[in-house]
Amino acid sequence: MENKEKIKNLIDLRAQAKLGGGEKRIAAQHAKGKFTARERIDMLLDEGSFEELDMFVTHRCNNFGIEKEKYLGDGVVTGHGTIDGRTVYVFAQDFTVFGGSLSETMALKICKVMDMAMNMGCPVIGINDSGGARIQEGVTSLAGYAEIFERNILASGVVPQISAIFGPCAGGAVYSPALTDFIMMTEQNSYMFVTGPKVVKSVTGEDISIEDLGGADVHAGKSGVSHFKVENEEEGLLLIRKLLSYLPQNNLEEAPIFSSNDPIDRLEDSLNEIIPDNPNQPYDMKNVIHAIIDNGEFLEVHRNYARNIIVGFSRLNGASVGIIANQPNFLAGVLDCDSSRKAARFVRFCDAFNIPILTLVDVPGFLPGSGQEYAGIISHGAKLMFAYGEATVPKVTVTLRKSYGGAHDVMSCKQLRGDFNYAWPTAEIAVMGAAGAVEVLEGRAIKSMNDPEEKAKYIAEKVTDYNEKFANPYQAAAYGYIDDVIEPRNTRFRVIRAFQALQTKKVVNPLKKHSNIPL
Ligand code: HXC
Repeated sequence: MENKEKIKNLIDLRAQAKLGGGEKRIAAQHAKGKFTARERIDMLLDEGSFEELDMFVTHRCNNFGIEKEKYLGDGVVTGHGTIDGRTVYVFAQDFTVFGGSLSETMALKICKVMDMAMNMGCPVIGINDSGGARIQEGVTSLAGYAEIFERNILASGVVPQISAIFGPCAGGAVYSPALTDFIMMTEQNSYMFVTGPKVVKSVTGEDISIEDLGGADVHAGKSGVSHFKVENEEEGLLLIRKLLSYLPQNNLEEAPIFSSNDPIDRLEDSLNEIIPDNPNQPYDMKNVIHAIIDNGEFLEVHRNYARNIIVGFSRLNGASVGIIANQPNFLAGVLDCDSSRKAARFVRFCDAFNIPILTLVDVPGFLPGSGQEYAGIISHGAKLMFAYGEATVPKVTVTLRKSYGGAHDVMSCKQLRGDFNYAWPTAEIAVMGAAGAVEVLEGRAIKSMNDPEEKAKYIAEKVTDYNEKFANPYQAAAYGYIDDVIEPRNTRFRVIRAFQALQTKKVVNPLKKHSNIPL
């Protein structure tokens, strides 16, 4: 072959690789409302920044006649590119080649970019659209999965890992995304489950559709497996770009700082009015968050799951911050199993990636009852406490209203190494609410009263007494557990100042192999 021909041959081969499983299958992919792997990568990365690797890899399997069917790239597009100028490593499964199923060689390609991302200290983004293990390959496919899982595990807490589910993701294949930091699913075409509807039917007799078993609604709302639900792929890919803007490239770096035009001393009068006089009346904590942060821009994580707690990323004076806030608008902001786990995982993510944590507290306590006890609220609540207590990033806590009992301790209190703990004058920091306290302390006296009117009057007096003594922030402030009681409208300024003062914070946990968080 002459050199000219060699070059033409290369150009032809590249064009062939770019067609994946061929035009017919690309059309079928489009007909489902899905983009191809390369189209997705192009939308995700800065224009023209993608450098593809391993375009000429083909499978090495000789079973069931598959040796006669080979596609350049073998069902996954891998490489690197940039997002807002910062390098990321990507892999996108190509459903047009054997349904994106995972072969030995596909695993090798994915592992290569994961290894490079680790060596370079860059995020890894995986776009999943696959029929699972390549059936013709057998155990080499299973081994390939495990190679990926091990890398997911070792990369955890070193580089951010983000998974987009834009198609099927079933069987053991679900565990790679599950090991990553964030999962997003599209409303229409994505599903995740360990066993599909047919197996479910044969084993348990349950009749259930794919969507009801493992669609985006299920995982974003019920199971909490997915952190984000997006309408379509474009929205998902833009969301990945946005999410990364809050994150550092790796655990040794800080998140990028943006210039902010939102004055740091902006007074927000609405906050002086936001707490209702009636302590049982809810309000929307999101209004508080939006009033404090830069330009009201908040990227909420797990928006549809365990809505009694809010978690997400934002910026204060241009610097990334992770926010955890009880939501009085949903189940009175109570801590239960799901909200504890949700917040614990978020706290740990922030801590792993040097993102300071702002905690806004209005929590009546842990949700009582056998349902929660049987579901392990003790262990789940302990997770959140563990996560806060272990975290060494700057931690600022503002108590807006209720902060009762164990939930007070859990929500980033002073003794769990909260750096600055502020309270609004409306804060109530006590062992329990007044009604419960009076019942315990005055039980004998109350029982001895026969006249119902006298009884009611006595209880009301004691409740008032208790509230005057404890339903305020000043007892905690008298002990220094609250560093200052602040005017609500000044919260943004005080919190930004606090984080500025914490910029040089250096706290190192005791040396150990690893902790034993109550999983
Ligand atoms: C090989 C596969 C494949 C697979 C799909 N294909 N899944 N090839 N191995 N796992 C091929 C099909 O033969 C077809 O080839 C093409 O991909 C598209 O598949 P269709 O069935 O036509 O597409 P669709 O109707 O959209 O259905 C998608 C699907 C279905 C629901 C994913 O293909 C399916 O059920 N696949 C099998 C899923 C499965 O059981 N996987 C193993 C799970 S166990 P042509 O040539 O026609 O284009 C597992 C264990 C992992 O994954 C363990 C890790 C620890």
